[in-house]
Amino acid sequence: MKVIICENYEEMSAKAADIFAAQLTLKPDSILGLATGSTPVGMYKNLIKMNEAGKIDFSAVKTFNLDEYYPIKRDNSQSYFTFMNENLFSHINIDMANTHVPNGETDDAEAECKEYEKKLAAAGGVDLQVLGIGQNGHIAFNEPDDALFSYTHVTDLTESTINANARFFDSADDVPTQAITMGMASIMSAKKIVLLANGANKKDAVKELLNDKITTSVPATLLKLHPDVVLICDKDAYGI
Ligand code: GLP
Repeated sequence: MKVIICENYEEMSAKAADIFAAQLTLKPDSILGLATGSTPVGMYKNLIKMNEAGKIDFSAVKTFNLDEYYPIKRDNSQSYFTFMNENLFSHINIDMANTHVPNGETDDAEAECKEYEKKLAAAGGVDLQVLGIGQNGHIAFNEPDDALFSYTHVTDLTESTINANARFFDSADDVPTQAITMGMASIMSAKKIVLLANGANKKDAVKELLNDKITTSVPATLLKLHPDVVLICDKDAYGI
Protein backbone atom coordinates (compact mmCIF):
# COMPACT_ATOMS: atom_id res chain seq x y z
CA MET A 1 0.00 0.00 0.00
CA LYS A 2 1.40 3.35 -1.03
CA VAL A 3 0.87 6.09 1.58
CA ILE A 4 0.61 9.82 0.85
CA ILE A 5 0.48 12.06 3.91
CA CYS A 6 -1.01 15.50 3.32
CA GLU A 7 -0.96 18.69 5.36
CA ASN A 8 -4.74 18.91 5.40
CA TYR A 9 -8.06 17.83 3.92
CA GLU A 10 -7.83 20.31 1.02
CA GLU A 11 -4.52 18.85 -0.14
CA MET A 12 -5.86 15.30 0.19
CA SER A 13 -8.95 16.14 -1.83
CA ALA A 14 -6.91 17.81 -4.58
CA LYS A 15 -4.51 14.86 -4.86
CA ALA A 16 -7.34 12.34 -4.99
CA ALA A 17 -9.13 14.38 -7.67
CA ASP A 18 -5.89 14.51 -9.70
CA ILE A 19 -5.73 10.70 -9.69
CA PHE A 20 -9.33 10.51 -10.92
CA ALA A 21 -8.65 13.14 -13.59
CA ALA A 22 -5.60 11.20 -14.80
CA GLN A 23 -7.73 8.06 -14.96
CA LEU A 24 -10.29 9.82 -17.18
CA THR A 25 -7.56 11.19 -19.41
CA LEU A 26 -6.14 7.71 -19.90
CA LYS A 27 -9.52 6.01 -20.24
CA PRO A 28 -12.48 8.34 -20.90
CA ASP A 29 -14.96 5.46 -20.60
CA SER A 30 -13.70 4.40 -17.18
CA ILE A 31 -15.85 2.55 -14.67
CA LEU A 32 -15.54 4.52 -11.45
CA GLY A 33 -16.34 3.09 -8.03
CA LEU A 34 -17.75 5.83 -5.83
CA ALA A 35 -18.22 6.28 -2.10
CA THR A 36 -20.38 8.42 0.16
CA GLY A 37 -19.69 9.86 3.62
CA SER A 38 -18.11 13.21 4.32
CA THR A 39 -14.58 12.18 3.29
CA PRO A 40 -14.87 12.14 -0.55
CA VAL A 41 -16.93 15.37 -0.72
CA GLY A 42 -13.82 17.55 -1.17
CA MET A 43 -12.59 15.32 -3.97
CA TYR A 44 -16.01 15.51 -5.66
CA LYS A 45 -15.92 19.34 -5.40
CA ASN A 46 -12.56 19.35 -7.19
CA LEU A 47 -13.85 17.02 -9.90
CA ILE A 48 -16.88 19.28 -10.43
CA LYS A 49 -14.56 22.29 -10.89
CA MET A 50 -12.34 20.37 -13.34
CA ASN A 51 -15.44 19.30 -15.29
CA GLU A 52 -16.77 22.88 -15.39
CA ALA A 53 -13.35 24.05 -16.63
CA GLY A 54 -13.48 21.47 -19.41
CA LYS A 55 -10.48 19.58 -18.06
CA ILE A 56 -12.33 16.29 -17.58
CA ASP A 57 -15.29 14.73 -19.30
CA PHE A 58 -17.77 12.31 -17.70
CA SER A 59 -19.89 11.70 -20.80
CA ALA A 60 -18.58 8.16 -21.34
CA VAL A 61 -18.07 7.29 -17.66
CA LYS A 62 -20.05 4.67 -15.76
CA THR A 63 -20.21 4.71 -11.97
CA PHE A 64 -21.04 2.15 -9.30
CA ASN A 65 -21.56 3.20 -5.71
CA LEU A 66 -20.47 1.01 -2.86
CA ASP A 67 -23.58 0.93 -0.76
CA GLU A 68 -26.97 2.27 0.28
CA TYR A 69 -28.96 2.19 3.50
CA TYR A 70 -31.73 -0.39 3.65
CA PRO A 71 -34.57 0.20 3.66
CA ILE A 72 -34.60 3.81 2.53
CA LYS A 73 -36.56 5.76 -0.06
CA ARG A 74 -34.38 7.11 -2.84
CA ASP A 75 -35.82 10.60 -2.30
CA ASN A 76 -34.97 10.54 1.42
CA SER A 77 -32.55 13.42 2.00
CA GLN A 78 -30.11 11.02 3.68
CA SER A 79 -30.15 8.26 1.08
CA TYR A 80 -26.85 7.69 -0.70
CA PHE A 81 -28.80 8.05 -3.95
CA THR A 82 -29.64 11.65 -2.96
CA PHE A 83 -26.12 12.21 -1.65
CA MET A 84 -24.54 11.30 -4.97
CA ASN A 85 -26.94 13.48 -6.96
CA GLU A 86 -26.35 16.46 -4.67
CA ASN A 87 -22.60 16.11 -4.26
CA LEU A 88 -21.59 15.02 -7.75
CA PHE A 89 -23.95 13.75 -10.44
CA SER A 90 -26.17 16.84 -10.83
CA HIS A 91 -23.05 19.03 -11.27
CA ILE A 92 -21.19 17.06 -13.96
CA ASN A 93 -21.86 15.97 -17.55
CA ILE A 94 -22.62 12.36 -16.67
CA ASP A 95 -25.46 10.40 -18.23
CA MET A 96 -27.62 9.44 -15.21
CA ALA A 97 -28.37 6.12 -16.92
CA ASN A 98 -24.69 5.31 -16.44
CA THR A 99 -24.80 5.83 -12.66
CA HIS A 100 -25.58 3.00 -10.27
CA VAL A 101 -26.46 3.10 -6.58
CA PRO A 102 -27.95 -0.01 -4.90
CA ASN A 103 -31.72 0.36 -4.67
CA GLY A 104 -32.58 0.80 -0.99
CA GLU A 105 -36.32 0.88 -1.66
CA THR A 106 -36.61 -2.57 -3.22
CA ASP A 107 -38.90 -5.18 -1.65
CA ASP A 108 -36.47 -7.91 -2.62
CA ALA A 109 -33.04 -6.95 -1.32
CA GLU A 110 -31.49 -10.34 -2.11
CA ALA A 111 -32.49 -10.01 -5.77
CA GLU A 112 -31.17 -6.43 -5.83
CA CYS A 113 -27.79 -7.63 -4.53
CA LYS A 114 -27.52 -10.30 -7.25
CA GLU A 115 -28.63 -7.85 -9.92
CA TYR A 116 -26.07 -5.25 -8.75
CA GLU A 117 -23.20 -7.75 -9.00
CA LYS A 118 -24.41 -8.76 -12.46
CA LYS A 119 -24.46 -5.12 -13.65
CA LEU A 120 -20.98 -4.58 -12.25
CA ALA A 121 -19.62 -7.66 -14.01
CA ALA A 122 -21.39 -6.76 -17.27
CA ALA A 123 -19.79 -3.30 -17.19
CA GLY A 124 -16.38 -4.96 -16.94
CA GLY A 125 -15.51 -4.19 -13.32
CA VAL A 126 -14.31 -1.04 -11.62
CA ASP A 127 -11.18 0.69 -12.99
CA LEU A 128 -10.71 3.12 -10.11
CA GLN A 129 -12.41 2.93 -6.73
CA VAL A 130 -12.48 5.64 -4.06
CA LEU A 131 -13.00 4.49 -0.47
CA GLY A 132 -13.49 6.19 2.86
CA ILE A 133 -12.98 4.28 6.07
CA GLY A 134 -15.22 3.93 9.13
CA GLN A 135 -13.85 4.66 12.58
CA ASN A 136 -14.03 0.92 13.26
CA GLY A 137 -12.18 0.12 10.03
CA HIS A 138 -15.24 -0.71 7.92
CA ILE A 139 -15.17 -0.10 4.18
CA ALA A 140 -18.42 0.43 2.33
CA PHE A 141 -20.67 -1.25 4.94
CA ASN A 142 -18.47 -4.29 5.51
CA GLU A 143 -18.48 -4.18 9.28
CA PRO A 144 -15.93 -5.89 11.56
CA ASP A 145 -16.89 -9.53 12.11
CA ASP A 146 -15.45 -13.06 12.36
CA ALA A 147 -16.20 -13.55 8.68
CA LEU A 148 -16.82 -11.09 5.87
CA PHE A 149 -18.89 -11.45 2.72
CA SER A 150 -17.41 -11.52 -0.76
CA TYR A 151 -20.18 -10.04 -2.86
CA THR A 152 -23.00 -7.51 -2.64
CA HIS A 153 -25.21 -8.39 0.32
CA VAL A 154 -27.55 -7.05 2.99
CA THR A 155 -25.84 -6.32 6.27
CA ASP A 156 -26.72 -5.15 9.78
CA LEU A 157 -24.98 -1.93 10.79
CA THR A 158 -22.98 -1.93 14.00
CA GLU A 159 -23.85 0.43 16.83
CA SER A 160 -20.57 2.28 16.19
CA THR A 161 -21.55 2.96 12.57
CA ILE A 162 -25.13 3.92 13.45
CA ASN A 163 -23.81 6.39 16.04
CA ALA A 164 -21.15 7.75 13.66
CA ASN A 165 -23.74 8.29 10.92
CA ALA A 166 -26.41 9.69 13.29
CA ARG A 167 -24.95 13.17 12.68
CA PHE A 168 -26.67 13.20 9.30
CA PHE A 169 -30.09 12.20 10.69
CA ASP A 170 -32.38 13.82 13.29
CA SER A 171 -31.35 11.15 15.80
CA ALA A 172 -29.62 7.74 15.99
CA ASP A 173 -33.10 6.15 15.99
CA ASP A 174 -33.66 7.47 12.47
CA VAL A 175 -30.56 5.78 11.02
CA PRO A 176 -31.58 2.64 9.08
CA THR A 177 -30.20 -0.45 10.83
CA GLN A 178 -29.29 -2.28 7.63
CA ALA A 179 -27.58 -1.57 4.33
CA ILE A 180 -26.96 -3.09 0.92
CA THR A 181 -23.22 -3.11 0.36
CA MET A 182 -20.66 -4.41 -2.06
CA GLY A 183 -18.66 -7.20 -0.48
CA MET A 184 -14.93 -7.50 0.00
CA ALA A 185 -14.36 -9.32 -3.30
CA SER A 186 -16.50 -6.81 -5.21
CA ILE A 187 -14.33 -4.00 -3.79
CA MET A 188 -11.01 -5.84 -4.16
CA SER A 189 -11.71 -6.58 -7.82
CA ALA A 190 -11.24 -2.86 -8.64
CA LYS A 191 -8.06 -2.40 -10.65
CA LYS A 192 -6.92 0.57 -8.57
CA ILE A 193 -8.10 1.84 -5.17
CA VAL A 194 -7.72 5.27 -3.56
CA LEU A 195 -8.44 5.13 0.17
CA LEU A 196 -9.05 8.45 1.91
CA ALA A 197 -8.85 9.15 5.64
CA ASN A 198 -8.83 12.44 7.46
CA GLY A 199 -9.21 13.59 11.04
CA ALA A 200 -8.04 12.25 14.39
CA ASN A 201 -11.14 10.03 14.70
CA LYS A 202 -9.69 7.86 11.89
CA LYS A 203 -6.27 7.51 13.57
CA ASP A 204 -6.92 4.08 15.11
CA ALA A 205 -8.28 2.67 11.85
CA VAL A 206 -5.33 4.09 9.87
CA LYS A 207 -2.86 2.65 12.39
CA GLU A 208 -4.23 -0.81 11.59
CA LEU A 209 -3.52 -0.18 7.91
CA LEU A 210 0.09 0.63 8.59
CA ASN A 211 1.03 -2.54 10.48
CA ASP A 212 1.52 -5.93 8.85
CA LYS A 213 -1.66 -7.57 10.18
CA ILE A 214 -4.74 -8.56 8.16
CA THR A 215 -7.90 -9.16 10.17
CA THR A 216 -11.62 -9.31 9.50
CA SER A 217 -12.10 -7.32 12.72
CA VAL A 218 -10.71 -4.35 10.75
CA PRO A 219 -12.10 -5.00 7.23
CA ALA A 220 -9.94 -2.31 5.60
CA THR A 221 -6.81 -4.34 6.44
CA LEU A 222 -7.79 -6.78 3.67
CA LEU A 223 -6.79 -4.02 1.26
CA LYS A 224 -3.19 -4.95 2.07
CA LEU A 225 -3.76 -7.92 -0.26
CA HIS A 226 -4.55 -5.62 -3.20
CA PRO A 227 -1.66 -4.79 -5.57
CA ASP A 228 -2.62 -1.17 -6.27
CA VAL A 229 -3.93 0.80 -3.28
CA VAL A 230 -2.95 4.31 -2.34
CA LEU A 231 -3.87 5.64 1.09
CA ILE A 232 -4.16 9.41 1.08
CA CYS A 233 -4.50 10.79 4.59
CA ASP A 234 -3.95 13.98 6.53
CA LYS A 235 -1.52 14.31 9.42
CA ASP A 236 -4.27 13.89 12.04
CA ALA A 237 -5.38 10.55 10.63
CA TYR A 238 -1.78 9.45 10.25
CA GLY A 239 -1.13 10.41 13.88
CA ILE A 240 1.61 13.01 13.45
C1 GLP B 1 -20.23 5.20 5.89
C2 GLP B 1 -20.03 4.66 4.48
C3 GLP B 1 -18.57 4.40 4.17
C4 GLP B 1 -17.74 5.58 4.63
C5 GLP B 1 -17.84 5.74 6.12
C6 GLP B 1 -17.02 6.89 6.65
O1 GLP B 1 -20.56 4.28 6.83
N1 GLP B 1 -20.77 3.46 4.24
O2 GLP B 1 -18.43 4.18 2.78
O3 GLP B 1 -16.39 5.38 4.27
O4 GLP B 1 -19.21 5.97 6.44
O5 GLP B 1 -17.72 8.10 6.54
P1 GLP B 1 -17.10 9.51 6.69
O6 GLP B 1 -16.34 9.76 5.45
O7 GLP B 1 -18.26 10.45 6.82
O8 GLP B 1 -16.24 9.50 7.90
